[in-house]
Amino acid sequence: MAFLSIQDLSISFGGLTALTHISIDVRQGLILSIIGPNGAGKTTVFNCITGIYRPNQGSITFQGKELVGKKPYQVASMGIARTFQNIELFSHMTTMDNLLLGRHIHMKTNVFTGATFLTRRSPAAREEREHRERVERIIEFLEIESARDIPVLALPYGTRKLVELGRALAMEPTLLLLDEPSAGMNQEEKRDMMFWIRDIRDDFKVTIIMVEHDMNLVMDISDEIVALNFGVKLAQGAPNAVQKNPEVLEAYLGQQ
Ligand SMILES: Nc1ncnc2c1ncn2[C@@H]1O[C@H](COP(=O)(O)OP(=O)(O)OP(=O)(O)O)[C@@H](O)[C@H]1O
Ligand SMILES: [Mg+2]
Repeated sequence: MAFLSIQDLSISFGGLTALTHISIDVRQGLILSIIGPNGAGKTTVFNCITGIYRPNQGSITFQGKELVGKKPYQVASMGIARTFQNIELFSHMTTMDNLLLGRHIHMKTNVFTGATFLTRRSPAAREEREHRERVERIIEFLEIESARDIPVLALPYGTRKLVELGRALAMEPTLLLLDEPSAGMNQEEKRDMMFWIRDIRDDFKVTIIMVEHDMNLVMDISDEIVALNFGVKLAQGAPNAVQKNPEVLEAYLGQQ
């Protein structure tokens, strides 16, 4: 059984067909990249997986359970976390608090309000300490200690991308969806991001599906690549094979 299985997925918006009969199987532990020109339907695949869009047709099963029809918070609580193409963080809150929000699906009590009125030894206080410790470990892992107590809006763009990644990790997902993790970053930040993604897969034992335009990054770290164009799947396979696929080459050349 595939870890994540997308079968015959189609979705349209008005007259525009964004995905047409897409099927993708993802094995556990892989880094799988989805590539394709602008408007190919890459983000739409993520939105269908996470319950933001409801497909017109098809099924998406995660560890054997159907995702279509589930609400985004239900999908999240099944162990699927994501980052967004346009960073979505609470920009007036600090890095620490944004990451703590990522923990909320695991919280029995509300650490922002409940715990402050209770003694240090109460179960709620203990729970808060545990969540904070987990978040501290992620902050350390991503080396964003200096951003810890700073409101997100005051951080450089590259650091905000890492904070969003940190918030997704704070959810302790088993499947992580990254929508253009290196977009807008400089070369050095891109290289770092490549290492983070690989380390995350290895250290956190998560399966990663990544949408990414930077071909060097994609070719370097992907175990498998899926190529989309105009909502149609052109190819799936090892990076070298997909890169040489005539239809994939044509889709990219046709763009220029
Ligand atoms: N909510 C929506 N309403 C109308 N059209 C939409 C909606 N979401 C996506 N689309 C359309 O579906 C197509 C696929 O969009 P999608 O965002 O998935 O592309 P993408 O491959 O992620 O592109 P990019 O590389 O530019 O991010 C586009 O033509 C887009 O305009
Ligand atoms: Mg997109």
